[in-house]
This record gives sequence, structure tokens and C-alpha cells, in this order.
Amino acid sequence: MSAEIPPESRYPLDNNRLPRHVAIIMDGNGRWAQRQGLRRVRGHAAGAESVRLVVRQARKVGISFLTLYAFSEENWQRPGAEIRVLMALLSRYLQRELKEMQDNQIAFQAIGNLSRLPQDVQEELAKTAAATAAGAQMVLTLALSYGARSEIVAAAQAIARAVKDGRLSPEDIDHDLFARHLFTADMPDPDLLIRTSGEFRLSNFLLWQSAYTELYFTDTLWPDFREEEFMKAVWEYQQRERRYGLTQEQIAAQGASRGPRT
Ligand code: FPP
Repeated sequence: MSAEIPPESRYPLDNNRLPRHVAIIMDGNGRWAQRQGLRRVRGHAAGAESVRLVVRQARKVGISFLTLYAFSEENWQRPGAEIRVLMALLSRYLQRELKEMQDNQIAFQAIGNLSRLPQDVQEELAKTAAATAAGAQMVLTLALSYGARSEIVAAAQAIARAVKDGRLSPEDIDHDLFARHLFTADMPDPDLLIRTSGEFRLSNFLLWQSAYTELYFTDTLWPDFREEEFMKAVWEYQQRERRYGLTQEQIAAQGASRGPRT
């Protein structure tokens, strides 16, 4: 039966051209629940299970950085009860998955305006990050209370302060310096960005970092996005040609016409 074929066999990957960094906009939890006559929060609970399975699959495949958009700055406008459920699911996820992260050498971190999160969630995030800091195989990043425009504005403010104080001159400001002032300073830019649920937007996620990212959109709702869907997205990424503004001939001459930057 087809369901017994492991996703690795159905979508065989070229290990030499894996995306180093995969970022995901997890969307469609509410619609998934509504389609089944369930309350929206049941969709979030099912979505938390997708998080668990996709993290495990990404680690198994050999992805070095996985970044998940779990709660945007704009999500603070949702009903209080829904926000409380999301925070509870997040805390439970961190507690339940700590051992698996440690056993699998996964380093956890959170990015975003974390000071807006409930105190207990902030403490759980810090505890998980500290307890997994030695993980050397994959960095799992949750974007929480995150907004890319705010991230860029904060970077501009920090740079402006440095110029004002005489620590930096305007000529020192270039792409690299700017990138070092973002939450993602220690990470490569995403090679592949996935968005579920049939929406074709970036929704204020990693706007600076996604300048040359391959985008993958699927109609699948996040609670249905499991190992096989993840493999399919990475497989499709490997079929694409990345040019970074160059011609096909130039890329071929570099001997790196497909897959991640070397
Ligand atoms: C978008 O679906 C999803 C979110 C706003 C939150 C993502 C949360 C999870 C996947 C579960 C908990 C997270 C972790 C890390 C365990 P939506 O509610 O906007 O769906 P809709 O567009 O169909 O309404």
C-alpha cells in the first residue's frame, strides 16, 4: 500500500544539495478545524503535532537550520482565549520535546519580541535554549511575537545609535553589517521558505533574509503537513535552479547551478 512507502523513498533527496536553512509559515490551523466542525483551537493542537513530526523529519534528512513562524506580532490581536491556548501548546511542546531535542543534538532558540510573551513562557523558552545549547546537528528556531518590519526598524535604530555615538561611520553600513543586527545574525539566509494553506504572502516573515530564498506554496493546511509533504517541498527545491541574478551560463561555469550556495 502506498501509505507504507517511507517519504524518503517517495521523494529521494540529493544529500549534496540539501537546503541548509528551511523556514516555514505554518498556516491553516483554523480552517482545518472549521472544515471538520471543530473549534479553531483544535486546529492548533493538531498543528503542534505537525511541528513535532516536521522537526523530526528535518533533523532526519540533515537540515541544519529550521525556522518556524509560530506567532506573529499581528497575532496579538487574536481573541485572548485563542492566544492562551497557543501559549499553553507552546509550553507543553517545549516540555515534551526537550529530551528528544537533546537526544538528537537539536539546539533550540526563539526570535522575536519575546518580552511581550507571558513570563512563564519566556522562562520555558530560556530554559529550553540553555538545556539544548550544545546541540550541534540542527538549530530549531521558533519565531514568536515576531515581525520582520519591526526587526528591520530595530536594526536601523541600533546602527543609527552606533553612528551617533561615533562607534560607526555611515560608510561602514553594508549588507553584512545590517544582517548582523537582525535576530538571525548567526544563521544563513533561508534557502527554502514554505507556506501552507494556499496563501501567497510572506506576512512579515524574514523579509530581509528571504531576498534570494526559493518560495514553495502548497494548498495543504498545516495540520495535514507532515513528513511526506516536507519531503515533497525539499525535493521540489532540489529541482530548481538558483541564479542569484546571474545568467545560467555563469552559474554553470561556477559549477554550482543547483541547490544551496557553497
Ligand atoms: C496559523 O493558522 C497558525 C498560527 C497562527 C499558529 C501556529 C501554531 C501552531 C502550529 C501550534 C503551536 C505551536 C508550537 C510551536 C507547538 P491560523 O490560525 O491562522 O489558520 P487559519 O488561517 O486557517 O485561520
